[in-house]
Amino acid sequence: MKVMVTGGCGFLGSHVCTYYRKMGWDVISYDNMTKYELERTGFNVELARNYNRDLLNSIGVEILTQDIRNFDELLTASDGCDYIIHTAAQPAMTLSVTDPVLDFTTNALGTFNVLEAARIHQIPVATCGTIHIYGTGINDTLHEEKKRYIRDPVAISESHPVMTGTLTPLHASKKSGEDYLMAYIHSYGVKAATFRLTGLYGENQFGGEDHGWAAHFTISAIRKKAITLFGNGKQLRDIVFATDVCTAFHAFYEKQQPGIYNIGGGETNTISLLECIDYLEEVLGRKVDYQFGGERHGDLKYFVSDTSLAKKQLGWEPTISPQVGLKRLHDWVLENKRIFNV
Ligand SMILES: NC(=O)c1ccc[n+]([C@@H]2O[C@H](COP(=O)([O-])OP(=O)(O)OC[C@H]3O[C@@H](n4cnc5c(N)ncnc54)[C@H](O)[C@@H]3O)[C@@H](O)[C@H]2O)c1
Repeated sequence: MKVMVTGGCGFLGSHVCTYYRKMGWDVISYDNMTKYELERTGFNVELARNYNRDLLNSIGVEILTQDIRNFDELLTASDGCDYIIHTAAQPAMTLSVTDPVLDFTTNALGTFNVLEAARIHQIPVATCGTIHIYGTGINDTLHEEKKRYIRDPVAISESHPVMTGTLTPLHASKKSGEDYLMAYIHSYGVKAATFRLTGLYGENQFGGEDHGWAAHFTISAIRKKAITLFGNGKQLRDIVFATDVCTAFHAFYEKQQPGIYNIGGGETNTISLLECIDYLEEVLGRKVDYQFGGERHGDLKYFVSDTSLAKKQLGWEPTISPQVGLKRLHDWVLENKRIFNV
């Protein structure tokens, strides 16, 4: 069996490649190795950029340094594969506002190209969406507790209205990828699924201020750099560990029930920004420096996924709690301190 993972040298992609190698599949990573976001982090960019690539090399993943915007390369590379898992993206809302062309070509056109390759090769495909497309309308339904936003009902399902409130180019590009996916299911019978992913975290994550906040907080705390909380810090997510997303991708491959799925930690795996700082202070045994900044344009202040559809159709559930997962992330950052210029 053979899977092509776009964005294989990224955070989630590296976990997906590792997961399938462990199952004995042949794996191709198709990644353009962009440094665009990493250059804004203050890490050692070369070490950070090559970390996942070297890891994948060591376990026998075939590495292709190619761009999803190049359709001919993508079509050739995916020839002979049994499955495409599309994790390559411009993933940051902030960068979508500063560079809408990069955002559109990567997320909308890139996802279209991946779907087209899957259609031509007649193979299943899974893509990464985002809970951001529900929109900031959700912010109007919240109440505040001391350290977190709350909402009744707690969890939000796929039938909730999308694209509400303030939109950014990221909303549009990710929603467009989702719309094409549905069109390809309806018009061509492509076995396709998209996951509306909530906050992801885990090892191999070079999170910065633009995206990957749990990793960004952990790395900053270990580097003793002040963390800026944009807003009041009560923003809440049902974070989901990367390996749990890998099992969701494989559950889709096995069940091949096309459609849109919320993939997140659900009601039992929620944490707010302030609670994450409390957790880090407990693990590190010292105070973590942070300050408050202005709210960010398009910020979704709350999301808890109702994952009952994924459970029903794919038999999938998250298994790793924030307590366990955040400790794994913390340990990985400590082991790789030199990459973060600690
Ligand atoms: N990290 C999160 O919290 C989160 C939350 C919701 C959704 N997602 C989605 O999950 C997916 C994976 O996110 P991630 O955090 O692993 O991102 P990441 O930035 O770590 O990895 C993305 C990879 O895609 C590659 N890439 C970018 N543009 C490319 C192009 N044009 N051609 C080929 N490769 C390209 C990058 O080099 C990178 O290695 C993305 O679709 C993202 O939008 C992530």
